[in-house]
Amino acid sequence: MRNSACDAMQRAVEKYRATAPFAAKSNMLPYRGGDKWLSAPFDGNSWWTGGFWPGLMWQLWEASKDDWFMGEAIRAEDLLTAEFRTFERLNHDVGFMYLLSCGARYKLTGDRQARVDALHAASLLMGRFNPAGFIRAWNEPDRTGYAIIDCLMNLSLLFWASDITGDPRFARVARIHLDTTLRHFLRPDGSVCHIVEFDPNTGARVRAHAGQGCGPGSAWSRGQAWGLYGFTLAHINTGDVKYLDAARRVADFFVAHIRSDGLTDCDFAQPATPERIDNIAGACAACGLIELHRLTDDAAYLAAAETLLDGLIEHCCDWSKDTCGLLTRCTASYRDDAAGVHTSIVYGDYFFVEALAKLNRTDPMLWRR
Ligand code: GLY
Repeated sequence: MRNSACDAMQRAVEKYRATAPFAAKSNMLPYRGGDKWLSAPFDGNSWWTGGFWPGLMWQLWEASKDDWFMGEAIRAEDLLTAEFRTFERLNHDVGFMYLLSCGARYKLTGDRQARVDALHAASLLMGRFNPAGFIRAWNEPDRTGYAIIDCLMNLSLLFWASDITGDPRFARVARIHLDTTLRHFLRPDGSVCHIVEFDPNTGARVRAHAGQGCGPGSAWSRGQAWGLYGFTLAHINTGDVKYLDAARRVADFFVAHIRSDGLTDCDFAQPATPERIDNIAGACAACGLIELHRLTDDAAYLAAAETLLDGLIEHCCDWSKDTCGLLTRCTASYRDDAAGVHTSIVYGDYFFVEALAKLNRTDPMLWRR
């Protein structure tokens, strides 16, 4: 796998060298690929995926040391920091957005304004904490009690902020949210719910919602990947073994559902037809599995990550320099087609390239200080 990962990264760098300038030329933030780059379908540059483009540019910069990618990451970061002014459109995904942009720039260049902007984002995330025990996901007035599994990835911004400032409040809030997630999202079979609704006054669990999966009680594969990688990052950030145990449980569940061709069903409980694939889930899970292998030395995790990545390289990479987007057959949600079905979506490319970078030992580990 090491050779094919090295070759795939080289080809990714070349593809992006040819196609990323189209985004720069129109000063936009790509969300979806195809004949040309398309912006996010909702909320403009406030849409939760905005950080993946600059994150991808930093990964490609680390892999190639081509400074064009650094300049492109900074161009995109400027679009994102302008979104602080929209405020009401931002939500708990400020972690994804600003850790992979400002946080990455500070980590890799020491830029002081990027540090300030990432701390600003961490403070916005702190402002979403409900002392009843969870971080509120979204802003709709009827969703005051909603928390979602995806938030585990955003918590890295809080751990980062505590490390940077020496102020334990950020990490304390992250741990409270993590412990709520352990209690109320992780199921006995190792799968995780997407959305849990809490009473915003008492913190009592009200119900689980299907969210982007096929139904209540199902196992939306990207949610499983968020849980797998998110609990792994929680262990990396805290050293607490209970999060490693949780990560292993979710990983074992995910690995048991990996298809023989290495592609990933959108929901592990979906009906056999129609076939609905979400390769973002596989790419993100591969990142978590490689980290789990590093932490535990359990070869099964690396083998599973390689099955996923081999499958993606063999069946689902568009290497053409005439089309935008690399990883194909990405699907935003099981039931709602508006954000993309079986197409290239920017965070699929991000996690695919991050996984390759881990195998090639160029990953700057943007989720950690
Ligand atoms: N964070 C939303 C998603 O994974 O689509």
